[in-house]
Order: sequence, then structure tokens, then C-alpha cells
Amino acid sequence: MVDRRIPKVRDLAPLMKFKAPELNAKKRRLESALTIHDLRDIAKRRTPKAAFDYTEGAAEAEVSLARARQAFEDIEFHPSILRDVSTVSTGWDVLGAPVALPFGIAPTGFTRMMQTEGEVAGAHAAARAGIPFSLSTMGTSSIEDVKAANPDGRNWFQLYMWKDRERSMALVDRAARAGYDTLLVTVDVPVAGARLRDKRNGMSIPPALTPKTVINAIPRPEWWINFLTTEPLAFASLDRWSGTVGELLDTMFDPTVDFEDLKWIKAQWPGRIVVKGVQNLADAKKLVDLGVDGITLSNHGGRQLDRAPIPFHLLPQVVNEVGNDTEVHLDTGIMSGADIVASVALGARFTMVGRAYLYGLMAGGEAGVDRAIQILAEQVSRTMRLLGVNSLEELEPGHVTQLARLHPVSRPVADAAVAARRASTRKTPSSTATPPKTVEETDAAAPGAIIPS
Ligand SMILES: Cc1cc2nc3c(=O)[nH]c(=O)nc-3n(C[C@H](O)[C@H](O)[C@H](O)COP(=O)(O)O)c2cc1C
Repeated sequence: MVDRRIPKVRDLAPLMKFKAPELNAKKRRLESALTIHDLRDIAKRRTPKAAFDYTEGAAEAEVSLARARQAFEDIEFHPSILRDVSTVSTGWDVLGAPVALPFGIAPTGFTRMMQTEGEVAGAHAAARAGIPFSLSTMGTSSIEDVKAANPDGRNWFQLYMWKDRERSMALVDRAARAGYDTLLVTVDVPVAGARLRDKRNGMSIPPALTPKTVINAIPRPEWWINFLTTEPLAFASLDRWSGTVGELLDTMFDPTVDFEDLKWIKAQWPGRIVVKGVQNLADAKKLVDLGVDGITLSNHGGRQLDRAPIPFHLLPQVVNEVGNDTEVHLDTGIMSGADIVASVALGARFTMVGRAYLYGLMAGGEAGVDRAIQILAEQVSRTMRLLGVNSLEELEPGHVTQLARLHPVSRPVADAAVAARRASTRKTPSSTATPPKTVEETDAAAPGAIIPS
């Protein structure tokens, strides 16, 4: 029998911790987000469907993106115990200059469509956090405005090579003169990927007002007020365009760009050069021979070739083979600071976030980007401490096992036969891509190796 009594006010008082309500709605909204997924949910409520889907969507059936995110979820961490982790340092040098965190903001096109503050908000937030900001060729803020928003920090310019090379190189020249320290050359867009959500939504640039978009606007007034009362949305480095992003890419971009062109671009650029969109070891080696300062393992956030290799799975092998000769960076699928820590443990010098930053932007403009960076930074620091390390240098492959759901079917005999037949009918050798090792070939017991789950 429970012995009951009347509660005394004196006992209840310490339990009553009423906080003054936060009157600033944006602050309240952003503080309620504890993860990037939470920011995404807020972003979805506040952004018109076509703009949100343009950001969140990927190519075809969106398998590449789902797999990349899954690969990060399928990590097993191996912590060490009884280490003094009262202090932790999350910075080091990337491409010869310091970064406060092992991630930066990836280049994204048409950013002011997601939220009117766009790239300038990202550059301000990056400046505060001490991380690089990358401006896309398809950006909606000018090279100079972005530099002014991050005057003492690191700005990277992302190049897509257009058919009109003079105009492309004029942009590169402008970025160099404005003081951008790194050129990111994106190489995974010979043609546009099939972004089916955009087609289904009738997404065009600039956004068109149709009965559907007007109805969709009703619960999202702030986005529309911003859209209609701020500077018109346009590509800062391109003439006005009307059509879909895919049509724009296919009209403007040069599908003939090759390694010789890259050599030529490298010769024009005075700073560091990183090639973004590397997806196999053979290409990584060729780029090292060409003398690039870094490569980014990336499949463009799943927006180009669907069912492309998962960058996080490529990482150990590529680091092992070329990691001493060049910096290996990685993006695609990062939704948590723990994903970043795992990438660094497996040898990535740096990572970039695309959607994680854009979800923050759509959830609350510049304050939302601050919140996204803060969430990722806290996750990085906490994961490092829980692993028992004080610095990025102490992270090593033994801290992470990649558990694989999908692994290649064993096929060496068929591969050899097909390759020999093709070689005999081909004039010039092209792809030297090596297929990933089969699970049977992989040392499944080694930390950092991919093991099937
Ligand atoms: C909306 C959007 C626009 C993008 N635009 C560009 C671009 O203009 N140039 C580029 O090199 N990559 C672009 N990317 C790819 C990102 O730079 C990056 O590779 C990708 O977002 C990483 O995947 P994540 O979104 O899962 O972090 C874009 C990505 C998104 C989501």
C-alpha cells in the first residue's frame, strides 16, 4: 500500500522552472531545431514546394543520395575510454590555411531562390564560424558581394566550364582579383542530371506564378514577401535565363571538357585548385599527376548520375593510394557532425555540406545558417570527445567501421573477358576505372574497411 500525502508548496517550488517565453519567433523556431533534420522540417513548412524540391531533390530515383546518407548511418564508431577530453580542437590547416572546423559550405546554384538572403547569408555565417564559403558559377550573388560578406575569411570559387570559355575564364579572373583563395572545378556535370522533381513541379527560372504556385504560397507568406520585395532573382554571372536549370546547364555547359582543359585552367589560376566530383581511383591518380592541390570525392549530392558510387565508401581506398600526394575532400549525404568526424577518421582532410546549409537558410535566413553550422559544430566536438580524442590529428581509421548493406557481386572473370573484348575493338583506351573490391577481397576485419551488415 502506497503511503500518500498532500503536496507542500515548499516541495513543489524547486520543480517549477517556468522560463519567460521567447518572443522572437525566428529565434524560438531555430532553437527548437536540434538536428539538421529538424531544420529541414522547418524549411519544408516555410518554402514553396518547387524551391524546396529543387534543393532537396536529386537525380532520377534519388538512389545516390539515399545511399550516401545511409552509408553514414551505417557507421560503427570505436571509442577509447579514460582520456582527458576537457578540451578539444576542431580546426587544422586545409589547402595551406586554417579552418576552425573540418567542413565548409559547398557551392550551390540559385541560392537566393531558397531564401532571399542567399549566398551573402552563407558567407556571413561562414565568416563568423571561421570556415570557407564556396560560391557557385550559378550563384545569385556576385563574386564581389560574397567577398565583401566574408572579407577576412576564406572564399572559394566554383567553376563550371561553359562553351564560351572566355566568359568562364573572365569569372575565374574576377574571383582571383577579388581574393578568392581556391578554385573548385566541378567535373561531374558534362550534361545535366535528370531532376525529376523539377520537371514534375514545372520548376522554372525565374519561378513562374501559376494557379498551383499561388495556392502553395498561401501558407508561406514570408518567402513570397521576400521574393517580391527584394532584388529580383537572377544568376549573378549569367545573362537572364528563362527555362529550367537542366535546360540552362545543357545549353551553356561544355560537354567536351577533358584533362587537357583542366591543365589549361590550372595554369590560369594563381591559387589552390581542387577538382570536385571525383568518383574513382584511376581519375584521382590522374589528377595527382596533374598536380592539383585537392580532390573532392562527390557525386554532386546525388544530383547527377543516379546510382553513382558512394563517396564515403570510396574514401579509404583513395586516401590510401593518393592521400600522401594530395588532400582528399568529401561531400554528399552529410547530415550530422558525426558524419564529418567519420570522414576525417577515414582520411578526409575536409568535407563540404550542401543541403545541411540550405535547410538552415530556408528555415531562418542567415540566423538559420548560423544554427546549421552550430548544430554540426557541436556534433563534431561532442563526437570527438566521446571517441576520446582532443584533436582532428588523433582521429584515425580505427575509430570507424563502415558497415555495408550493399556490396558488389563478385565478377572478376566476366570483367576481364568484357574488358579484353572492348579493348580489341577500341582505338584509344578510355576508362581505366577499377571496380571496387568485392567483399571477399576486402579485409573485413580491418578497421575502416567496409564490412557487410
Ligand atoms: C540546390 C543545390 C544546388 C547545387 N548547385 C551546385 C553548383 O552550382 N555547383 C556545384 O559544383 N555543385 C552544386 N551542388 C552540389 C553541392 O556543391 C554538393 O556537392 C552537394 O550538395 C553535397 O551533397 P549534400 O547536399 O548531401 O551535402 C548543388 C547542390 C544542391 C543541393
